[in-house]
Amino acid sequence: MRIQSVTAMEILDSRGNPTLRVNVCLEGGVTGVASVPSGASTGENEAVELRDGDKQRYGGKGVLNAVANVNDILAPALVGQDPRQQARIDRLMIDLDGTPNKAELGANAILGVSQAVARAAAQSCNLPLYAYLGGVGAVHLPVPMINILNGGKHADSSLDFQEFMIVPLGAPNFSEALRYAVETFNALKCILKAQGYATSVGDEGGFAPQLKSNDEACDLIVEAISAAGYKPGTDIAMALDPAASSFYEDGKYRLTRSGQGDKNSAEMTALYQGWIRKYPIISIEDGLAENDWSGFREHTAALGDQVQIVGDDNLVTNPRFIARAIEENSCNAALIKLNQIGTVSETIAAIHLCRKAGWGFVISHRSGETEDPFMADFAVAMGGGQIKTGSVCRSERIAKYNRLLEIERELGNAAAFGN
Ligand code: PGA
Ligand code: ZN
Repeated sequence: MRIQSVTAMEILDSRGNPTLRVNVCLEGGVTGVASVPSGASTGENEAVELRDGDKQRYGGKGVLNAVANVNDILAPALVGQDPRQQARIDRLMIDLDGTPNKAELGANAILGVSQAVARAAAQSCNLPLYAYLGGVGAVHLPVPMINILNGGKHADSSLDFQEFMIVPLGAPNFSEALRYAVETFNALKCILKAQGYATSVGDEGGFAPQLKSNDEACDLIVEAISAAGYKPGTDIAMALDPAASSFYEDGKYRLTRSGQGDKNSAEMTALYQGWIRKYPIISIEDGLAENDWSGFREHTAALGDQVQIVGDDNLVTNPRFIARAIEENSCNAALIKLNQIGTVSETIAAIHLCRKAGWGFVISHRSGETEDPFMADFAVAMGGGQIKTGSVCRSERIAKYNRLLEIERELGNAAAFGN
């Protein structure tokens, strides 16, 4: 079954910003649909998200040019291709774009097509997406990192750090892990309410209260884990994404919102070291800023044997930066976001690189999401590992968790949890 048509349209993401939905139709009527997410705390070297810049529409955030690039440039090139040749189709789009960062056609345009092609191919093979992309060995459900307190660029809270997550690593399976997380989230809500804090949520569905410090956020989470009846560290651990690039200014880490003052790289690492001793933290992502490569080396040397050091803004799912970080020992895990690099096959190449180096990897959503659960299937296809897809409220986050529940059920006794 060859590709018969490729069409894109402008839809809205979870922040109400325009994004793309792409529909790939095969001969015989099989279709694959995919939608593209969008980040707020983006890395400088991410593939380019093409926006119209026309201030008369959505404040310049429209994506009609990217839609036109799909309909007028990518579609004619893809009609007649075999959708199962994912790598070849992705390469064709990369060549048509012709830039190193997909600036010409837009990574949003290219990724939408890449994902919709994968879906259509899976359909044509009568396979669920995770089985099509991952084969018969795709039976591992990922361990979720669930973001229950939001700060930084994702909320108007008092927290400098962007994400405070819980990791139900002691659960026997994925559905139980999710239940542990929901119960802890609800316990945290009660605790916040009792202390007079707001329980409204940020972009990724975590609470966004005006706490007194980043430390208080950790204290409340540990309290919530216990209040829900779980053992901190054994049943449920913690993970952080400070997204430090967002508070790095003039060579300093400015913890302004929480009033913790300015710090250099070594002082930030010392701060994290103190927290690792005090709280059940197992993973720190973007603890330093994206261009602080020397800081990251020392950070990983100091903390890397105690916790997972995840690179996001500095690595941008790009094999080039991941290879450099492996060489320099600047991290020991990578965050994986399909839209940072812009095609399914390049994302798989980034994961292969992590695996070869013995690194961990975390499949991640963006703060601006849609109801498309593509990344849930993708995580299972890639062998489980870890997944980061927000809190346990807001439907664009829940769509991914619900899809994982569905996959777990479908796999039945064959389902495994974690690595
Ligand atoms: P973003 O945030 O999607 O706004 O970049 C997610 C993250 O930093 O991990
Ligand atoms: Zn991040």
